[in-house]
Amino acid sequence: MVLQAMKYSRGKLEILDQLRLPHEEVFIDIRTVQDAWDAIHSMQVRGAPAIAIVAALSVAVCLSRCNRNGAWHERLEPDMTGSCLIIHSLRFLLTSRPTAVNLGDAVKKLEKVVDAAKVKAGATDFDINEAYIQAAEQMLIDDVQDNENIGRFGADWILRHSNLIPPVGKISVITHCNTGSLATAGYGTALGIVRSLHARNFLKRVYYTETRPYNQGSRLTGYEFLYDKIPATLITDSMVGALLGLKRESENISCIIVGADRVAANGDTANKIGTYGLANLASFHSVKFIVAAPRTTIDLSTASGAGIPIEERPPTEVTTMKGRPVKKLEDGSLEVEGDVQEIAIAADLTGAWNPAFDVTCYKLIDCIVTEKGVIERRENGEFHLDDIFQT
Ligand code: MRU
Repeated sequence: MVLQAMKYSRGKLEILDQLRLPHEEVFIDIRTVQDAWDAIHSMQVRGAPAIAIVAALSVAVCLSRCNRNGAWHERLEPDMTGSCLIIHSLRFLLTSRPTAVNLGDAVKKLEKVVDAAKVKAGATDFDINEAYIQAAEQMLIDDVQDNENIGRFGADWILRHSNLIPPVGKISVITHCNTGSLATAGYGTALGIVRSLHARNFLKRVYYTETRPYNQGSRLTGYEFLYDKIPATLITDSMVGALLGLKRESENISCIIVGADRVAANGDTANKIGTYGLANLASFHSVKFIVAAPRTTIDLSTASGAGIPIEERPPTEVTTMKGRPVKKLEDGSLEVEGDVQEIAIAADLTGAWNPAFDVTCYKLIDCIVTEKGVIERRENGEFHLDDIFQT
């Protein structure tokens, strides 16, 4: 069964708490806008598309309740009602995390829906709410469809640029962070491409980085690969150079595939911290470096990476770690037992710098895979991303 990290039906939204994975599978109810803000800020839900969809649907949940009971029940702003309250809630949600642009894009689109519904002759609050709910629900549906298309286009492109050595004819890839069902409405972006390669029997193995400090790789991507039985090997972030140096040929490593939190107009890409280093390694070892992102991640209003705000998170995410104790069995293997604990892993628990993202220069990126197709750099070495919005 496909991993479902978000459960939505009209008036009800539940999300899989990613802070507790892979140790516990617990769904939490998102009943209010404040619940959604807290879940995004604390990273119970994370990943650029997932953040946007949970935010959009949290308002839809409040509006469904409102249309049933006639009241919003959450006093973010005591005197506000109707469309003003919707806009206020969306703007509040925008403050939860700054780097991923998908949330900003969703807010802009939903504000337009509200404005259009408001000016319709005879429109009531009920009608405006209904228009909003339908638009937010459509975002959930579209995201899964977009990811499946990204998966297909990306896999086609990679296979065209790979050395499919007979008789096996399979490739290995490297990925970073978590870009799968947990980071989107379902299927995933970079991980969607991995899924598509696997489904078509072209994937020998995917190497995935631990992704310090929050460990999206070892905790979340590993969880998805186990769930989907995809052949996968965990490496620490610092092993990518050695992997490419020592095993590129024997493993037929074709590319590094990553997601994105914001792609600027020139193609500079903000993604999980560590991405920039991987792009340099890909360039040095002549493997393709691929960014997979829906158009909702492309921000034409930001000219280059210099304009992308980079979130800095608390030092304690670097200096501590959460996990379950292990016990050694007689045969030497390990078994987890006991409850999740937080442990210190640094001498100085406060003196760490923790930028959550870095920016990779467009010159290091071979292509950007969107739901509408693959964008390659032109002969002059530049990306022209506006074209993809014309199709
Ligand atoms: O801090 P996170 O876990 O929200 O960062 C996530 C990433 O950097 C992902 O690569 C990106 O959002 C794309 S998810 C499809």
